[in-house]
Amino acid sequence: MSFQPKFPEGFLWGGAISANQAEGAFNEGGKGLSTADVVEYVKLEDRKHMKFPFPTSSEIEEVLQNQSQKVFPKRFGIDFYHRYKEDIALLKELGFKAFRISIAWSRIFPKGDEIEPNEEGLAFYDRVFDEMHKHGIEPVVTLSHYEMPLHLSMEYQGWQNRKLVDFFARYAETVIRRYKGKVKYWITFNEINSLLMAPYISLGILRDQVTEENLLQTKFQGAHHQFLASAKAVEACHRISPEAKIGCMVIGIINYPNSSHPEDVFTALQDQRNTFFFTDVQARGEYPAYTERFLAEHGIQLNKEPGDDAFLKEHIVDFISFSYYMSTVSARPESSGEEAVGNLISGLKNPYLEASDWGWQIDPVGLRTLLNLFYERYQKPLFIVENGLGAFDKVEEDGSIHDPYRISYLKEHIQQMKEAVGDGVDLIGYTSWGPIDLVSFSTSEMSKRYGFIYVDQDDYGNGTLTRSKKDSFYWYQKVIATNGEKL
Ligand code: BG6
Repeated sequence: MSFQPKFPEGFLWGGAISANQAEGAFNEGGKGLSTADVVEYVKLEDRKHMKFPFPTSSEIEEVLQNQSQKVFPKRFGIDFYHRYKEDIALLKELGFKAFRISIAWSRIFPKGDEIEPNEEGLAFYDRVFDEMHKHGIEPVVTLSHYEMPLHLSMEYQGWQNRKLVDFFARYAETVIRRYKGKVKYWITFNEINSLLMAPYISLGILRDQVTEENLLQTKFQGAHHQFLASAKAVEACHRISPEAKIGCMVIGIINYPNSSHPEDVFTALQDQRNTFFFTDVQARGEYPAYTERFLAEHGIQLNKEPGDDAFLKEHIVDFISFSYYMSTVSARPESSGEEAVGNLISGLKNPYLEASDWGWQIDPVGLRTLLNLFYERYQKPLFIVENGLGAFDKVEEDGSIHDPYRISYLKEHIQQMKEAVGDGVDLIGYTSWGPIDLVSFSTSEMSKRYGFIYVDQDDYGNGTLTRSKKDSFYWYQKVIATNGEKL
């Protein structure tokens, strides 16, 4: 007998952006400088393999004094700050039920360590949330998406400093209180497990603030502080806005063993912990059993204070959200093979998969597997808050943009999502990444586009910023209108 899986009623279809990749207006409305505002554009040919900025304090000082010769795309984004009304109207036309954005911490607390928030920053997000509600779109809001006030890096050495837990808690409590009734879905840290690969981006740590020898120690100490900060946001949300839900967010990686060699299988299991370690702590409220051995074998001394473990245990998240772009292959150290890349993930090439223009391995079935793994492990609602294809788009002479490659990527992933729902997974929503083209997180370029809506702007910020609809716009509109029945 055949079985026809269906998406549940009220499924949250939509899209996701982040403040630093979309807003622009980096020095308006009382905003302070953020760590993302000093990341410069580097030409693709100079950047064959993704290299994340890991600047020193003096390099940042130099950037601050020498602004004119360099391009900092996250300062201009796609001007969402001024164009949010037009953009939200287009998303309404797409039929969005939910729109994931992030709040720029540096708009609310420009330096991060102030006592009083910046009213102009708070008022901006009031306007954005009101606009969404006017169109029946539910905001899904990330508190920290790859940026923080730069001052916290320069003065406090980022998340290696425990003081950040309280600064973040003040920020989280401020916005949760302010937007009570307007925001029903909160997310604490975007892709929290990225701190393993990108310590500047995720932890605000500068190169001269850490030595090569204690880098791993610093990352795990930073992780502990972010876990505490996340638990403080959970506590604040449950106390102040109990009708709202708050979740964690990780890069959803699935690690396949390179072969059936038992050592490859065990390596893949260990690599899979780069995801599950982070969800275990936030969703189960405790460090997994292998932590003690892992820390000892890597010479890591985790500094905890009395009460930390109990606090983590008491304030666990309501749902688990994650991004999913690709899968990867893990192999025992002595194996060799062609390397595959992602923005943060690396591993070996999978001969069974195709890759995107940027080399990311496309694996829709991996999404079904991962959804099942997450659900069997935690039995908590799941939310896919990023998924999509970064590609070069061509504008035809008549202004149309044909993007069948994007439609086929999304279609196949949504099909597998539906299968997972049929497997019994409690999936509450899907927000594809970058429904409107925006500045790339990893490469700070515009040429890598994810959107249903094209933005006329090049890598250097030249263009009219006009928005236009791609073929995928009409396709996704139909998907949402039929609740995923017509793919
Ligand atoms: C995720 C991030 O890693 O992937 C987003 O949360 C990012 O901020 C997205 O934009 C796509 O990556 P990229 O590097 O292509 O922009």
